[in-house]
Amino acid sequence: MSKTLLEINKLKKHFPIQNGLLKRKQYVKAVNDVTLSIDQGEVFGLVGESGCGKSTTGRLILNLLEPTDGQIIFDGKDISNLSKSELRLLKKDMQIIFQDPFASLDPRMKVYGIIAEPMVTHKLFKTKQELDKEVRRLINVVGLKDYHLDRYPHEFSGGQRQRISIARSLALDPKFIVADESVSALDVSIQSQILNLLKKLQEEYNLTILFISHDLSVIKYISDQVGVMYLGNVVERGRKEDIFKDPLHPYTKALLSAVPIPDPTLKRERIILEGDIPSPSNPPSGCPLHPRCPMKMDICAVELPELRETRTGHYVSCHLYAEK
Ligand SMILES: Nc1ncnc2c1ncn2[C@@H]1O[C@H](COP(=O)(O)OP(=O)(O)OP(=O)(O)O)[C@@H](O)[C@H]1O
Ligand SMILES: [Mg+2]
Repeated sequence: MSKTLLEINKLKKHFPIQNGLLKRKQYVKAVNDVTLSIDQGEVFGLVGESGCGKSTTGRLILNLLEPTDGQIIFDGKDISNLSKSELRLLKKDMQIIFQDPFASLDPRMKVYGIIAEPMVTHKLFKTKQELDKEVRRLINVVGLKDYHLDRYPHEFSGGQRQRISIARSLALDPKFIVADESVSALDVSIQSQILNLLKKLQEEYNLTILFISHDLSVIKYISDQVGVMYLGNVVERGRKEDIFKDPLHPYTKALLSAVPIPDPTLKRERIILEGDIPSPSNPPSGCPLHPRCPMKMDICAVELPELRETRTGHYVSCHLYAEK
């Protein structure tokens, strides 16, 4: 039986927006209804267009933001009421790999210091020798050499820098990694190298990864489970095979039908959504997709559909699949 490592229930994050003229307070509903669960040792791919709330979801999980509402349970514990020592442990167990390896590595530090820093902060080793050994092990694990440790981040390519970020993220032997658009800034050929490295490490260390990307091909490559986000909501989630072969939500169908398929004999229904994504500060009532949805019914403007399990492990939030 697989063990659930992370469980998120009805998570919300509404950011207040400053508006001097209006008396009524306004909010950006960055995350409005996110429910999902991730099993130990799995890669969960979170996909959706820019601004749909993927990074905010990641930052909430990492406890870098406080939720407006909802629950995040990590390793059996609600992260909103942890003791100081439990919080310290959580900081060690959860790490992040950012999109931009240029901005996320301290330019004044040599690679040795960048990788060693978290272990020094957490006082992981008693002697310099032990620390040295681990830093060297980590740089080799990500495919770089010992002599790279003596160099500065600007002396590396984007792909190499992302390897350094990965080595640093592994330094505390985490259980869970959030990779937020971690290959988006790289050339396609370098992307696949980094994805392969992540996949290899994930298997070797039984890591659990939340992989955030707007790129469906990257999500398809790396994920075991997939969650599709639209305007602050996870509208569909399930095993990758189910999501890609048999998408249920009109938004997922539209997203997938926009990707060209290499085999011209395969026909796929092309679903086109009307108009643009509404602003998250003024989202539509009911189902967030309804103003643009080709399948909309009267109820869609009124009621947010429940996330329903249509078959084992495949969940969708759409009135088309409501229990009749
Ligand atoms: N600190 C903040 N204050 C106000 N609004 C915010 C804040 N952080 C994010 N937002 C807004 O919340 C919405 C979701 O942002 P988020 O960064 O989570 O999206 P995303 O899916 O990661 O997008 P991208 O693919 O562009 O990275 C956006 O409209 C964004 O402008
Ligand atoms: Mg983002």
